Amino acid sequence: MSPLDLTAPQVYLRNCWYVACLSREVGRQPKAVRLLEEAIVLYRREDGSPVALEDACPHRKLPLSMGRLMGDAIECGYHGLTFDGCGRCIAAPTQERIPHGARVRSYPVQERYGLLWIWMGESEKAAQHPVIDIEHHDSPDWHLTTGDSLRCNCHYLWLVDNLLDPSHVAWVHRGTFAAAGTEDTPLQIHADDSSVVCSRWMYSRPPPAFYAPLVQFSGPADRLQHYEVRLPSMAINRSIFAPAGMGGPQVPQDPLVYRMVSYNFLTPVDADTTLYFWLQHRNTDPNNDALTERIAAGAKAAFEEDRLILEAVHQGMKHQRTPHIGLLLDAGAARFRKALAERIRAEDIQPDAHTP
Ligand code: FES
Ligand SMILES: [Fe+2]
Repeated sequence: MSPLDLTAPQVYLRNCWYVACLSREVGRQPKAVRLLEEAIVLYRREDGSPVALEDACPHRKLPLSMGRLMGDAIECGYHGLTFDGCGRCIAAPTQERIPHGARVRSYPVQERYGLLWIWMGESEKAAQHPVIDIEHHDSPDWHLTTGDSLRCNCHYLWLVDNLLDPSHVAWVHRGTFAAAGTEDTPLQIHADDSSVVCSRWMYSRPPPAFYAPLVQFSGPADRLQHYEVRLPSMAINRSIFAPAGMGGPQVPQDPLVYRMVSYNFLTPVDADTTLYFWLQHRNTDPNNDALTERIAAGAKAAFEEDRLILEAVHQGMKHQRTPHIGLLLDAGAARFRKALAERIRAEDIQPDAHTP
């Protein structure tokens, strides 16, 4: 796979955790989702624990999500084959014996941070890899929003590009994140084999509209934009605002220094669709629900702005009639795609060759 070829057949890393849905979206009704081009049914057992199974009955491939739950199992809505939460067939009511091969693939799942995480690769490897750790998650001084999501009609790597591109805020988010300096302050890029960070400090500037009511001081600010993406497609976006003169690489731990971390989790549906999940974590006013709501609404509005742009970019790039060019600001995204392509190549999993 060329690092920039979005049409390559296998552009997904599989041995990793992806967000399948918000925890609140799955319950005692089977829920059909499509992730990495695979049809999956999600539901909860009676004790609340989540289940993820291949959403295709092995008889006539009817989606199991069209059937019904029978206790902890799911019954096919056509002829009643019934599967437990591990994908084993436990009932075949139309005949005496359970037929050979009557099983569906089950996927490791776990819940963290109000999100349902799914392992899309080799099941036996899931336990060796924890879900991302949210720093300060257990600190009473920090507050984590309950999270939200958007469906975007674009390839997930266009979203990854965007989340490694601090410059775009100057044009895409004029009314929220843009401020003097966002259009032309140079970026620093740091990369290793599993992540890329594009970051910059902007000194002594008025804070932008979204952050001005949130920072705990008045006057100009030193601002950090830290855009980090980790394999497979988890973006950690750190914003720091310090009173002018306090910011920079040695910014102190000080109550006046405002910190917000936006966690963005991208789950590919297919080459044209991505599920975008996010959480916002901040170190101020942890019990201020009105503030939390304002932040959540502001973030969603901003991500809608990104969605509009990236869906149009997806169409523009997919149907381009004339050559496109690169800009210096693409350097971080190019590094990330290279690391991702290498990891996918090393993984060497055929998408359809899973052991059920
Ligand atoms: S299609 Fe499921 S039992 Fe026949
Ligand atoms: Fe954006």
